[in-house]
Amino acid sequence: MKIIYGADYNPEQWDKRIWIEDMKYMKAASVNMVNLNIFGWSILEPSEGKYDFSMLDELMELLHENDIDVDLATATAAQPAWLSKKYNDILPVDQQMNTIWYGSRQSYCPNSPNYQKRVKELVAQLVKRYKNHPSLKMWHINNEYSDHVSSCYCDNCAIEFRNWLKDRYTLQVLNERWGTAFWSQCYYDFDEIIPPRQTSADHNPGLVLDYKRFMSDSFLNLYKMEYKILKSHTPDIPVTTNFMGNDNKPLDYSKWAKTIDVISWDSYPDPMKDTSPMANSFTHDLMRSLKSKPFIMMEQAPNQVNWRSINPNKKPGEMEAYSMQCIAHGGFGVMFFQWRQSLKGAEKFHSGMIPHGGVHTRTFKEVCSLGEQLTQIKPIEYKADVAILMDYDCWWALEYEPGPSSKMKYMDRIREYYSYFYDQNIPVDIVFDDSNLCCYDYLIVPNLYMMKSPDKLQEYVQNGGQLVMGPFSGIVDESDTVFSDGYMSPLEDVFGLKVVGYNVLADLVSISSDLIGQNWQDEIDVDNAEILYVYESGYNTDQAAVTKHKYGKGTSYYIGTSFVNIKPVLDRIISVTSIDSPQNVEVILMENTYILINHNDEKKEVHLDNFIEPILLEAYEYRII
Ligand code: GAL
Repeated sequence: MKIIYGADYNPEQWDKRIWIEDMKYMKAASVNMVNLNIFGWSILEPSEGKYDFSMLDELMELLHENDIDVDLATATAAQPAWLSKKYNDILPVDQQMNTIWYGSRQSYCPNSPNYQKRVKELVAQLVKRYKNHPSLKMWHINNEYSDHVSSCYCDNCAIEFRNWLKDRYTLQVLNERWGTAFWSQCYYDFDEIIPPRQTSADHNPGLVLDYKRFMSDSFLNLYKMEYKILKSHTPDIPVTTNFMGNDNKPLDYSKWAKTIDVISWDSYPDPMKDTSPMANSFTHDLMRSLKSKPFIMMEQAPNQVNWRSINPNKKPGEMEAYSMQCIAHGGFGVMFFQWRQSLKGAEKFHSGMIPHGGVHTRTFKEVCSLGEQLTQIKPIEYKADVAILMDYDCWWALEYEPGPSSKMKYMDRIREYYSYFYDQNIPVDIVFDDSNLCCYDYLIVPNLYMMKSPDKLQEYVQNGGQLVMGPFSGIVDESDTVFSDGYMSPLEDVFGLKVVGYNVLADLVSISSDLIGQNWQDEIDVDNAEILYVYESGYNTDQAAVTKHKYGKGTSYYIGTSFVNIKPVLDRIISVTSIDSPQNVEVILMENTYILINHNDEKKEVHLDNFIEPILLEAYEYRII
């Protein structure tokens, strides 16, 4: 399998003279695929039902003549102005019932019948026209679903929400699940139910949670609508849609992944945050894990972006280090936004592979050198013995405000545990509620506020797995109802304890072995678990902070607080092969290949067990050994 290398290509912004130059420089850069037609709709369909494919035909031919494959986009992420103007159900509506107007992009309601109708028609036209084109190697549906507008509250959404609910519950069950006896919210007819629009005070959390599920499904149905049309004509052409990073909360990617042939995502690490390489590495692991298959980094900036308040350049070599990180985590495609930096439009200060300064720039030189390197290497097969559980329902439910503490952020919890493995170069997979767990030595569950499948976790431990669970877990079932038998009650036997309450910590607490807890403290009543750490200050002094319990053939660990530094705790629990390296130097060992990446802007030495001499890496250098 070769590595895919290329970019979003937006030649509609340029005259044809430039297209010819583009072909020449794409070859110089070893580009082998472009994402074409991402925002092409208003050119393809200048008025309703009248199509003009002449420019796209020409481009497909040109790319074919130059041996460049096409990931052809369906162009449905930005509808033409005439369409938004003509059908007023298309524009989305916010919680205050204000229209979100056109004039930018991605401004459509996923449940708009007119948007759906025009999308269907356009996609059918595209697939019929290009299905046999030799350049067509992949379909790219829409662009970053839920970016900019992640939720709509209009009347069409209200109708579809009611249908979504009717498919799942009777009114009686719905009232029961949402606990509508609280604050006089009982429903006697589905028609009384409206989206969580602006209200006087807090919404019903059950409704809010179901609305998030519904919105993720609404965008997914839209995606599936296109997928079905494409697959009916081109069953063998893989289909992708580009996901966003790990902190993209609106879409349940684990559910989406089932109808996606190739996972791809857009990587824009924040250069102002020193956790950037780790955040990126986490998302690569997430994306690979979604289908347990190689994935594509569909977009990254060749240099700086334009859309944060301060947009520093990538340092010399940094972009290449990030690109290699994708390969090291099981990616098979490195692509950019975008090929040529725009002269006009909202992104004219966003870098391109060919920047405003042209082909004699550092950026283009780096792009060419990376392209050349990628022709020499093959994707790796990534394997991990440790898994971290992630669950979108749990994320959505945990962060409903007002909760006990806004400090209990779901992704912070995940990052706290993930960083332990990242820092020690221990490979990690991300798993989901329906994943097969049997082949993992350790299952790490940083938070499981919403516990949907306790039996599965019990079975995992019973069969010999080692389960490590973080605080504020086992609180509610999948309808967000608190377990009436007590927190953690579904897994009491597995952990050998009861959780009888919690404290939100305003101050730090001391814990045995000179450790410190913060933000949260579960009140644990130990049954037959062993106590590994106790609190040494505060009013839970001498009570268990961390426990261990042998159950079946396995072991479970409960960590009842958020540690300022969790490393000593996990060191005591986890025993897998790790590799020492300086901070932000990644070492990935798969089969017999080491990939070393220095994400620092200074040189670092790595001492590997099997090597006599230390390996010296210059700033941002990577090495494959
Ligand atoms: C992505 C988007 C691209 C481009 C890029 C700029 O989110 O998919 O179209 O806008 O950001 O960084």
